[in-house]
Amino acid sequence: MRVLVITGAGVSAESGIPTFRGKDGYWRNFDPAKLATPEAFARDPELVWEWYRERRQRIRNAQPNAAHAAIAKLAQHADEFLLVTQNVDDLHARAGLAKQNMVQIHGDIFVTKCSRCDFRRRDYEQEQRDVVPKCPECDALMRPGVVWFGEQLTWDELQRIESYLDRGPCDLVIVAGTTATFGYIIDWALRANRHGGGLIEVNPEETPLSQFATRLVREPAAVALALLVNQLIEL
Ligand code: APR
Repeated sequence: MRVLVITGAGVSAESGIPTFRGKDGYWRNFDPAKLATPEAFARDPELVWEWYRERRQRIRNAQPNAAHAAIAKLAQHADEFLLVTQNVDDLHARAGLAKQNMVQIHGDIFVTKCSRCDFRRRDYEQEQRDVVPKCPECDALMRPGVVWFGEQLTWDELQRIESYLDRGPCDLVIVAGTTATFGYIIDWALRANRHGGGLIEVNPEETPLSQFATRLVREPAAVALALLVNQLIEL
C-alpha cells in the first residue's frame, strides 16, 4: 500500500489553530501583504516577528487532534508513505509522525533563519523574545523559517516530493483540510493518483480539487480521518 497524504490548515483547525481563508481565518482579519511577504518584513520586522511569536505561542498551547493521530497511524500501516503538509505547525510531528515521512512544504514556524545568509536554528529562548534577533554569523535580522508569498519553495523539500512521485503511482491519495489554492497541490495529488488508485478529499467545503476526487468526505478531518484510517487498516 503506497500512500500520499496532503494536508492544510483545516487539519489543525480542531486543535484551535485558525485557518487562513476560513470564517475566522487569518487572511480574513489580516492583510497577508503586511505580514507574510519579504517586503513586509523589510518594512516592519517587529510587526511580522510579533505576529509569528503569537502564532508560535498558540501552537505550543495546542494539542494534536484525532486527524493528526490518524495520519500517523496510517503511516505505520502503509508500506510506503509520505505526508506533504502546508502547515508550519508541529502537530503532525507531535502526533508521532516521523520527520522522514513528512515534508513541510511551507516551512517550519519553530525554525528561525537569517534573512541574508544560510544560518538557521531552533531556539526556544530566542523565539520568545519580543525583539527581532540578529544572526550570529552576519548580524542581519533573523526571520521565521517559513515560505512567504512570492518566495520559492525549498529545493530539497521539493526534490523529496518529486522522487516519491517518480518512484511510482500511489494506491491511495488523501487530501485533507486545504483550499488547494496553490496549483502544485492539485498537481501532486493527480500525479500520485495517475493510476486511479483512489483520491479522497476530506473537507466540509468544495475546493478546486473536488472535481478530481474519487471520494468526497464533507466532514471535519478529526472525525473523518479517524474513521477512514480505521476502515483502511481493517481492510
Ligand atoms: N476539517 C477539514 N477541513 C477543514 C476543517 C476541518 N475541521 N475546517 C476547515 N477546513 C477546510 C476549509 O473548508 C478550507 O477548505 O480547510 C481549508 C483551509 O483552507 P485555507 O485556510 O486556505 O488553508 P490552506 O489550504 O492550508 O492554505 C494554504 O496558504 O496562506 C497560505 O501558506 C499558507 O499554507 C497556507 C496556504
